[in-house]
Amino acid sequence: MQTILRLDCSPNGSHAFSHTLGDAVEQRLRARHPTAAIIRRNLADDPPPPVDRAFSIGMRTHQTAEAASGVPAFLVSESLIRELEATDALLITTPMHNFTLPAVLKLWLDQVVRFGRTFESTPDGKIGKLADRLTVVCIASGSAFSGDAARQPDFLTPYLRAILACIGLHDVTFFRAEAAGRNPETVMAACLAEIAAHPLSTKG
Ligand SMILES: Cc1cc2nc3c(=O)[nH]c(=O)nc-3n(C[C@H](O)[C@H](O)[C@H](O)COP(=O)(O)O)c2cc1C
Repeated sequence: MQTILRLDCSPNGSHAFSHTLGDAVEQRLRARHPTAAIIRRNLADDPPPPVDRAFSIGMRTHQTAEAASGVPAFLVSESLIRELEATDALLITTPMHNFTLPAVLKLWLDQVVRFGRTFESTPDGKIGKLADRLTVVCIASGSAFSGDAARQPDFLTPYLRAILACIGLHDVTFFRAEAAGRNPETVMAACLAEIAAHPLSTKG
């Protein structure tokens, strides 16, 4: 493993629960791959722009990667996709916001999940064009969103699983610090123990 891309999505910076979980995953990966470079992208501080009309028109008129190369509306998209393509592992740290992902992570996905470039649409469904790689998502939430204690829907983990699979990323592991704010010591200790015990990668 040579390169790890880390996306931090919490507005709470390095104090965020999700960030702390991500640090633990990063430490594990660093220990296993000491020479790997870590590319950090703080999406909360520096969010990608929303896709605009030129982008939308470009998606319709430049449907292959070749046709799309050099199209000005895709410059940000192209650079974020190339950054992702060049990495061996993807680490996302994110809070749950309003039952789902924070807007800044959606902005990144809207730039990266691009018809004709990172996925194809076929009669059998969408087929991802990126090589699969280890993907770890660390989530913190204010309340439980899974199991018997959940009193809210979870549009975060199923959505991320589906959208990442759409571009070819199927090897996705989730770590969840649910209700982190209510009982931080216990919740974080349990999630950090889970990270410490997890094999993280079956593929090296
Ligand atoms: C705008 C906003 C929306 C939120 N929506 C939810 C939600 O739908 N469900 C939930 O459990 N917590 C929600 N929370 C609480 C955060 O998920 C929680 O504080 C979490 O621990 C933040 O993670 P972080 O410390 O990594 O930033 C929301 C917080 C904010 C700021």
